Amino acid sequence: MKKILMLSGSQRKESLNLRLLSNLAKRIETLVSVDLVIQGEINLPLFDQDLELDPGVQQSVFNLHSRFASCDAMIVACPEYNGLITPYLKNTIDWVSRLQYLNANCLNAFLDKPVLLVSASTGWSGGAVGLPSARTLFGYVGCNVLGGAITVPNIQQYITNSGFVFNADFENLINFHLQRLIGVLSPT
Ligand SMILES: Cc1cc2nc3c(=O)[nH]c(=O)nc-3n(C[C@H](O)[C@H](O)[C@H](O)COP(=O)(O)O)c2cc1C
Repeated sequence: MKKILMLSGSQRKESLNLRLLSNLAKRIETLVSVDLVIQGEINLPLFDQDLELDPGVQQSVFNLHSRFASCDAMIVACPEYNGLITPYLKNTIDWVSRLQYLNANCLNAFLDKPVLLVSASTGWSGGAVGLPSARTLFGYVGCNVLGGAITVPNIQQYITNSGFVFNADFENLINFHLQRLIGVLSPT
């Protein structure tokens, strides 16, 4: 089975982007193996080249790098902070991107990985203003960022006691993007 890594760009405990990823995971978990990164699993300091050789930090980066390296594709859901991706997302990718220069056994974990971008915000934009910065980042590190994205404006309006409830058109749009991502993965 192919593996899709899911990463939220928010480390907030009640992150709506993480909750959205959980919703997406349920839609595809019979088709692919899902590795959803949950809160607290990434606990890296603000990137500092002086910390790169710290054994504890390097071990944490190595563990995270292994998860990225072993996936076949990624779904990244990120809120926008003042029109850009979050510092937490940039920090995470910065750390993982560096390991290939420090450890000869570690290659670029991102190279040619298909990435579906998702964003949700409590504002009108749904995080769409921040998506170009996500495209730039993931394109720069070598990913194949899929055209299009799932953006959810005013996400709070879809929250119910039984999770998110979207209308039929939006359900179709979400499933369309997920199927496109799965479609670009070659069969096992
Ligand atoms: C520092 C900061 C900047 C924000 N900037 C934006 C913004 O530019 N556009 C927007 O729609 N929402 C913005 N928001 C609101 C977020 O969309 C909202 O807090 C969202 O729930 C964060 O995602 P999360 O629930 O996954 O943590 C901002 C929130 C914070 C904390």
